[in-house]
Amino acid sequence: MLDISSNKIKDNMKKVFLIGADGMLGGELKERLEKNYEVVGTTIETLDICDKSAVLAKAKEIKPYFIINCAAFTNVDACEVKEDLALAVNGTALENIAEAAKQENATLIHISTDYVFAGNKPINEIYTEDMEPNPVSAYGRTKLVGEQNAKKAGKYYILRTAWLYGLGGKNFVKTMLKLSENHDEISVVDDQHGSPTSTTTLCEIIEKIMEKEPEYGIYHSTNEGFTTWCKFTKKIFEYANIKTNVKAITSEEYKEMYPASSDRPKNSQLSKDKLKSVGIIPANWEDALKEYLKEELK
Ligand SMILES: NC(=O)c1ccc[n+]([C@@H]2O[C@H](COP(=O)([O-])OP(=O)(O)OC[C@H]3O[C@@H](n4cnc5c(N)ncnc54)[C@H](OP(=O)(O)O)[C@@H]3O)[C@@H](O)[C@H]2O)c1
Repeated sequence: MLDISSNKIKDNMKKVFLIGADGMLGGELKERLEKNYEVVGTTIETLDICDKSAVLAKAKEIKPYFIINCAAFTNVDACEVKEDLALAVNGTALENIAEAAKQENATLIHISTDYVFAGNKPINEIYTEDMEPNPVSAYGRTKLVGEQNAKKAGKYYILRTAWLYGLGGKNFVKTMLKLSENHDEISVVDDQHGSPTSTTTLCEIIEKIMEKEPEYGIYHSTNEGFTTWCKFTKKIFEYANIKTNVKAITSEEYKEMYPASSDRPKNSQLSKDKLKSVGIIPANWEDALKEYLKEELK
């Protein structure tokens, strides 16, 4: 009896083809979605998104309602020296995924980035979805190609996120916590402005998009509120009760210390008005950080 009813529940569940299911975002998303959807997750070991026929065949096998792409080449500095590979994974592969979505009449949810913008607007201005992207890094350029290709799915949501951290991956918060263990002072850039975003908040946004299915298009999807990397670090240390001093430096000073580092937008502030207009209200970045640290520091 139990088996029959659980099969019935499964029959009514929408199918999700989750690509990048072992990444920082994908891992958490898989765990959450499995409660309400029938999820088939793939990783680089089981599906290379650059392999078009494999992507199309997998979609045909799963027959998903949603295809969610969390896979990407995410090392921003490495993208500068391996732009061909970055373009293949972040850009061209989205043509394969979009075609798979079309083939199955599925809705594509693709994760993009604030780095599609140059970030050279004055700090009192905020980027909206309809503003023209003009990336200054290889990562941003390749992710923009990915957005252009994702749109070919027809039924698509492109969620631009930023400054992402989560329990299941390497990220800025973990790096700062680690550095504080053997440094009395850390120098952190204080002239790049954006929204730190927890994977938990981004998962909540994705789940709400899946429930509500608002108008297709691009949605800026970060935690609410803005800060700088330096002030973010100060908050991490305040909440974690760490005494390490945080010294504010400029992007130019950082570049002198790490010449191989990629240029990053100074203004990465994304408006959430469109997201809010469809009834999705992301948590404030400070509240999300507090929640994350409760788990991370357990
Ligand atoms: N992290 C951030 O700060 C940030 C900011 C803005 C936007 N985003 C976007 O958010 C999304 C999720 O980021 P994340 O930090 O969760 O990424 P992540 O942890 O780096 O996960 C990405 C996954 O994609 C896999 N992958 C790489 N090449 C692939 C290929 N050819 N075929 C299949 N899988 C492949 C990676 O495998 P390997 O690990 O084996 O390479 C990894 O498991 C990405 O679209 C990213 O661009 C991230």
